[in-house]
Amino acid sequence: MIATQAPEGTLTARYAELGAGLIPVEPYISAEYYEREKAHIFKKTWLHVGRVEEIAQAGDYFVKKLDACDTEIIVVRNKQGQIRAMHNVCSHRLNQIAYDKTGHTRKFFCKFHGWAYDLDGKLTGVPDEKCFFGLDFKDYALTRVACDVWQGFIFVNMDPNPKMSLADFMKPMYGDVEGYPFDRMTVGFQWETVVNCNWKLALDAFQEAYHVAYVHGNSIADAIDKSDGGSMPPLDALCGDFHRRLSLAGNQKSVYGNPKAVTSGGAAAAEALSDAATTRPIAAAALRAGLGSARHAFPLDALPSGVNWTKSPNWLFDINVIFPDFYVSLRPNYIQAYNFRPIAHNKTLFEARVYYPEMTTPGGRFFLEYMKVALRDVLLEDLSTLERTQRAAETGVKKHMVLQDNELLVRHSYHVIERLLAEAEGRTTTEARTEAIAE
Ligand code: FES
Ligand SMILES: [Fe+2]
Repeated sequence: MIATQAPEGTLTARYAELGAGLIPVEPYISAEYYEREKAHIFKKTWLHVGRVEEIAQAGDYFVKKLDACDTEIIVVRNKQGQIRAMHNVCSHRLNQIAYDKTGHTRKFFCKFHGWAYDLDGKLTGVPDEKCFFGLDFKDYALTRVACDVWQGFIFVNMDPNPKMSLADFMKPMYGDVEGYPFDRMTVGFQWETVVNCNWKLALDAFQEAYHVAYVHGNSIADAIDKSDGGSMPPLDALCGDFHRRLSLAGNQKSVYGNPKAVTSGGAAAAEALSDAATTRPIAAAALRAGLGSARHAFPLDALPSGVNWTKSPNWLFDINVIFPDFYVSLRPNYIQAYNFRPIAHNKTLFEARVYYPEMTTPGGRFFLEYMKVALRDVLLEDLSTLERTQRAAETGVKKHMVLQDNELLVRHSYHVIERLLAEAEGRTTTEARTEAIAE
């Protein structure tokens, strides 16, 4: 048994409406539950698809497959510089318009019969037009998708009339993060892979730090701030109507745990090197090589108030989980932007992007390469449990999972989805929760 009420002063008690009980396994293994998530969440919510820098010039576009929405979309910058999104489906006999994942064009030409569309998706040309008996071009544009931008991140919404604007969706939780220097992180790397697990199971592994001392015990365990004991307890956690945040401290006497060292240099670098020089010589060499190379300094006191909101001197990074499947971690000088895109109830496309400031010297580039490889290893560790956990969950042996205080975001994630499904299906949240737990 487990207490259903959390003790005073805990994170769980602060969000008493989430309860303190067990979390059902069913949402992670049920194909039927996934269909409900598709209909009521993924097809109704703002979804991150990329950054504005990817389509910097008029005519630049990318194509994004969104299995959870049963569609593929084209995202393009039009002649006026606005970003548009439309389904990749020709209005004639439904061929895909764009075949490549990215490109640059003046117009979109369908490769089947040559219909032409401009960068807003308007139909502008039809071969043998007179054979169509009075075709009205304005009725045959590409089908538009709602599209908006927050802090350079492009979001789309499959609902033709989104219930709330992107600004209203983001502001309550992330208004105090606006102004973070996203636009100065212009160098990056990315990986993507398909993982045979539920999308929430993958996301959950990134919305708590309880696992760090174990899964990452051989890679970045030296980056854990042990001053408060425990397995990387968070500085704080915040849960909103949709989104959630977790702020974490790092060991300042390590390279990975003190990210500001490379751009701040000085005392921060000396502190990072004080232990790392002997315990992690390669990390220390990479840091020394990178010092003074970053094009921007990123002083901590210039960050918006919502970044490192506890103002901890040992701050390592903030995890921001933008509902439903977008993870953005903010450090003083680099960000990780991950999407956990569902493909099926037990299949997820993991898209990982990491953005850094430009480094102006070869030593700085060496530092970036070092960080890239270090992070790749950390990610592989994160992914190493997921398919095993999914298989184990699917045995049906366990009907519930049990969460500790520092796994609050996992609890919140479950409750938000349950609440939204209940609202969409005309049930009260309590009924939904009872049904989910009564097995
Ligand atoms: S299907 Fe596109 S022009 Fe015919
Ligand atoms: Fe991890």
